[in-house]
Amino acid sequence: MEPVVAVLGSANADLVVDVVSRPGPGETVLGSDVRVLPGGKGANTAVAAARLGGRVIFIGAVGDDGHGELLRRSLTMNGVDIGKVRTVERPTGAAFITVTGDGENAIVVSPGANAALRPQDVDLSGAAVLAASLEVPVAVVEHAVAAAVAAGVRVVLNLSPVTSLGAATLAGLDPLIVNQHEAEALGPLLELGVRSAVVTLGAEGAEVITPAGTTRVAAPRVAPVDTTGAGDAFAGALARRLAVGDDLVEAAGYACRVAAVSVTRPGAQPSYPSADEL
Ligand code: RIB
Ligand code: NA
Repeated sequence: MEPVVAVLGSANADLVVDVVSRPGPGETVLGSDVRVLPGGKGANTAVAAARLGGRVIFIGAVGDDGHGELLRRSLTMNGVDIGKVRTVERPTGAAFITVTGDGENAIVVSPGANAALRPQDVDLSGAAVLAASLEVPVAVVEHAVAAAVAAGVRVVLNLSPVTSLGAATLAGLDPLIVNQHEAEALGPLLELGVRSAVVTLGAEGAEVITPAGTTRVAAPRVAPVDTTGAGDAFAGALARRLAVGDDLVEAAGYACRVAAVSVTRPGAQPSYPSADEL
């Protein structure tokens, strides 16, 4: 039987506008037509994992609105089990994203329904790996990590956006995933008490840190079009590969290739590759 990956996190409608430059305070700039795309760190991670094969269950919340429908449709079309997605009386999360010509993005997130997720919404039955991120209430994430550790489920946590976590939660992470800026802000990662850590380095690949040492993993060279959701693609691919038995270095190498493909295409979820494409 295929191992199950459970993903806990946000589901957002991404409202994306291409701009030449971003406005400063009090300034207005004109951009491209708006694109409304399925996003959110949690839903992105779930879709990235599911496109690579295997069973993926998404635990999250959306509103009873068109954006919620967009998310449900994208998750379902990509084979993600949405039986644990709750509909709440808040607008679906929305992310206001500007993308510049170099593929870089700047994002404002309105959590909406994501903020209504509760600890009792977490159900990890059958899961081999839990992949979590932080655009949902931290209490829900901490509860999920504790439940996973108690059940022997491996936990992959993308600490994005950076949030302070309790010692018991940190001790359950195998690995903690952060980007370079987050890593610099946090200091030596194993000193946080995590079991292992992965630092994503964009075009430079990733660094895998375990008590046995640090290994650098390379990424293929690509021309970036839109880096939105590349970190989520990495986390989803890593969770999938750990679930099928890769070691952390192998899984990180595979995840770098998935993330590299994702940056060559616009959007987050629509840009993720299938296993055949790799
Ligand atoms: O990581 C990218 C994601 O961050 C976007 O899809 C947006 O919804 C925000 O959550
Ligand atoms: Na992309």
